[in-house]
Amino acid sequence: MCEEKQWNSTQLRRYDLELEQIPRLYYTDPKIDELISLNKPVVITGSNIIKTAKANWTPEYLEQNIGNAGHTVMLSKTHKFKYFDESKVLNKNNPHGIEFTPPTRKTKMKIGEFMRKLREWKPGNDRLYLQQPLNNTIGDLLVRDFINFDWEYINNKQSKHNWGPLTSNLILISQEGNVTPCHYDEQQNFFGQAYGYKRCILFPPSDFECLYPHPVYHPHDRQSMVDFDKPDYTRFPRFKFAKGYETVVEPGDVLYIPIYWWHHIESLMRGGPTISVNFWYKVGPTSLEYPLKDHQKVSITRNVEKMLLEVLQDPKEVGPLLRSMVLGRYTE
Ligand code: FUM
Ligand code: FE
Repeated sequence: MCEEKQWNSTQLRRYDLELEQIPRLYYTDPKIDELISLNKPVVITGSNIIKTAKANWTPEYLEQNIGNAGHTVMLSKTHKFKYFDESKVLNKNNPHGIEFTPPTRKTKMKIGEFMRKLREWKPGNDRLYLQQPLNNTIGDLLVRDFINFDWEYINNKQSKHNWGPLTSNLILISQEGNVTPCHYDEQQNFFGQAYGYKRCILFPPSDFECLYPHPVYHPHDRQSMVDFDKPDYTRFPRFKFAKGYETVVEPGDVLYIPIYWWHHIESLMRGGPTISVNFWYKVGPTSLEYPLKDHQKVSITRNVEKMLLEVLQDPKEVGPLLRSMVLGRYTE
């Protein structure tokens, strides 16, 4: 019997994009490993991976049990929470940074205050998004839940696919309707959905040219310059050719977001708060086998940009040098 969906399409934001569904596979399905080894996304269903988070993690439970340390909360005037790297912003301690007006503000908040602000939120208030690495400040019950994740399954995937070490687990508590705009990460990600529904739109690394990432020196490094709500096709004409893969993750689902895959993530509108926990893994030891994979080419592009910046010292000189090197010589 098919379970009834707990959300409907009016809760999804609308974008001018061609989208295909990401496969949803039962956790014992051998095709999961085929997809992971091809660096392709898949939603793992029916597993015990984050069983204890699915069973227990409600906003009320976290309010009682996450501990009373200050947690990292992002504040935004809009529904978008576009990440930026503080170490790349110009300020008195960082004279080599880039002049930049941050689109969001980071603050520390105790869980009680965060939950109260979520409950009392009204239009015109800053939107809120708690994003906190799981560390030794979380309470005993959450530690117990975490220990009871299905580590056998998770560790098996890590070793089978030669991922490097687990670097962190981030817990994300989002207000309904929040969007993490399109970006890629330099790590493998098991993205676990504990509570509520999130829509995830992914694009392969080969869509690099269609998604126009900011230059590496920019605080929005790894983020797309395209505003999905209002794409500027004059500046970003190839955005039309971006081909996305989407899914709506539900409690208990784990989405594999392959390294260097672009992802846009939205908590459904009018769906209440959402709670996710992700597992980030470093890339494992890799050998260069030809032809190179698309994500390896992205990594090479990043290194070339970084090297030019290092020798030229001035970000403004990188573009003109690349242009003179390529135009008419490698563009024929
Ligand atoms: O909003 C989010 O859930 C983002 C997650 C990610 O970028 O991994
Ligand atoms: Fe990400």
